Amino acid sequence: MSLARRLIVPAAALAITALSASSAFAAGSAAKGFEVFKGTCGVCHLARNDMSKADAATKIGPNLYGVVGRTSGTLKGFHYSAAMRAAAVVWTPDMIRRYAQAPQKTIPSVRMSFPGLTKPQDADDVVAYLMTLK
Ligand code: HEC
Repeated sequence: MSLARRLIVPAAALAITALSASSAFAAGSAAKGFEVFKGTCGVCHLARNDMSKADAATKIGPNLYGVVGRTSGTLKGFHYSAAMRAAAVVWTPDMIRRYAQAPQKTIPSVRMSFPGLTKPQDADDVVAYLMTLK
């Protein structure tokens, strides 16, 4: 295989992944996501739909203002588990969607005592809400 061909194939695969990830969230509703977030995640994460950086207080869980694009375990002032820091995943919409549905399966040994959202639509909606927090 020529060098050029080896470089082109992964780039094409990446483009497809990016495309399918973004189209999955077109279905998400930020307004519904806020309701789901407030009711389930809000026990541990500050939940407001008018949150700004200045309100970025932590509760039991880290503040999720600006979480999209953040690296896991890096919010200053929050005491994360070693597992969350070591994972160092970037919270893309797709990664948050997976994590919200199965935290322990996505990043084993995290200290988030939550089994995961059971409805994929709820996860899409929560991601749509979190994407507005920037
Ligand atoms: C029982 C409390 C609790 C609930 C409920 C909960 N979380 Fe968490 N969350 C935490 C804790 C604690 C951490 C930090 C975990 C660690 O350090 O291992 C965390 C971490 C996170 C992170 C990583 C943030 C970062 O800065 O790396 C995301 C994203 C997240 N939670 C999303 C959610 C979403 C979405 C929901 C609802 C579907 C939710 N959480 C429900 C307690 C909770």
